[in-house]
Amino acid sequence: KKRVLSGAQPTGILHLGNYYGAIKNYVDLQENQDAFYTIVDLHAITVNHDPKELRESTRMTAALYLASGVDPNKATIFVQSQVRAHTELTWLLQCATPIGWLERMIQYKEKSRKLRRVEEDENEDEEVKRKSRESVSTGLFTYPTLMAADILLYRADLVPVGEDQKQHIELTRDIASRINDKFGGRKWKKRGGRGGRVLTIPEPYIPPVGARIMSLQDGTSKMSKSAENDGSRINLLDTPKQIETKFKRAKTDLFEGLEFGNPERPEATNLLSIYQLATGQTKEQIVSECGSMRWSEFKPKLAEAVIASLEPLQSRYNELLADPAYLDGILKEGAEKAAAVADQTVTDVKDAMGFVV
Ligand code: TYM
Repeated sequence: KKRVLSGAQPTGILHLGNYYGAIKNYVDLQENQDAFYTIVDLHAITVNHDPKELRESTRMTAALYLASGVDPNKATIFVQSQVRAHTELTWLLQCATPIGWLERMIQYKEKSRKLRRVEEDENEDEEVKRKSRESVSTGLFTYPTLMAADILLYRADLVPVGEDQKQHIELTRDIASRINDKFGGRKWKKRGGRGGRVLTIPEPYIPPVGARIMSLQDGTSKMSKSAENDGSRINLLDTPKQIETKFKRAKTDLFEGLEFGNPERPEATNLLSIYQLATGQTKEQIVSECGSMRWSEFKPKLAEAVIASLEPLQSRYNELLADPAYLDGILKEGAEKAAAVADQTVTDVKDAMGFVV
């Protein structure tokens, strides 16, 4: 069995991108692998947050994992902040991570640019600019080392994620190799370590379709929880009416027919891919069914398929909401199981690095 670890941030409601890029694969992988799925609340505080909203979103995200089919009898589900080893290993990893590696991270560059956009505005007030600059926290910068800790603590072989997280997993691999090179090897083996390796080098697990679901308003930018326009994404808890409206307003083009893969038609590729995922058909089937359709014909079908695919998830979600004690119980049990694995890794790394353990 392979060890699997993944996680999502509890900011807002999970959307179709999260579902097709990641959560759906959590569900597939739990069948035959040893899976750990976490709600990464410590990552959610790298940007401005509201305590009440964080608490609510954390439970909501956990409930959405379960409603999506993540099964506590098959996988370990836990909240990151409830397992102390995550913050502890992060420090150890940070001291082995060159600043330059973090400076290259695209997600950091994008997020910090967004946060400090006001700075470039010549007409903006100095005080406002200062505030904007100060809204980029150190945690936003070191974020990927916390993510590396999440993965390495469980000695994960596979990490199911969407395309946007690939660079973070490459960084995780680099950090792990560095620790292994510096502190693993013969000395570590002599102390009883496993085959000379302190940490396991993980692989990303990225789906062939759905790895990058795009915004409904712009087929060249990804669907995201933080985009201002809620019409740019389908949230897993959207009502049928909302889903219909969002697809009706989704950006299209003036070409005839529908096709995958035309670089001038990113919206067509995106909406056809969503249709493919919602119906579980092959690309060929979709092309033969929809290739000659007009947008006005296709959009209601798409909405209908997505509504139907989310319906079972939404009714399970409502059942779970009715019983918060059940959910908290699962998370508590998950955290205990996770801590047992994670604590051992921290002890191993500390031992290899020369701490008195
Ligand atoms: P997050 O919370 O932004 O997203 C959760 C998962 O959803 C995927 N995803 C997408 N997939 C396809 N299309 C999209 N438009 C789309 N948007 C998001 C993400 O790739 C992710 O798999 N840093 C991570 C959370 C994290 C993590 C980890 C993941 C922290 N520690 C350890 C894996 C392992 C993040 O911000 O994901």
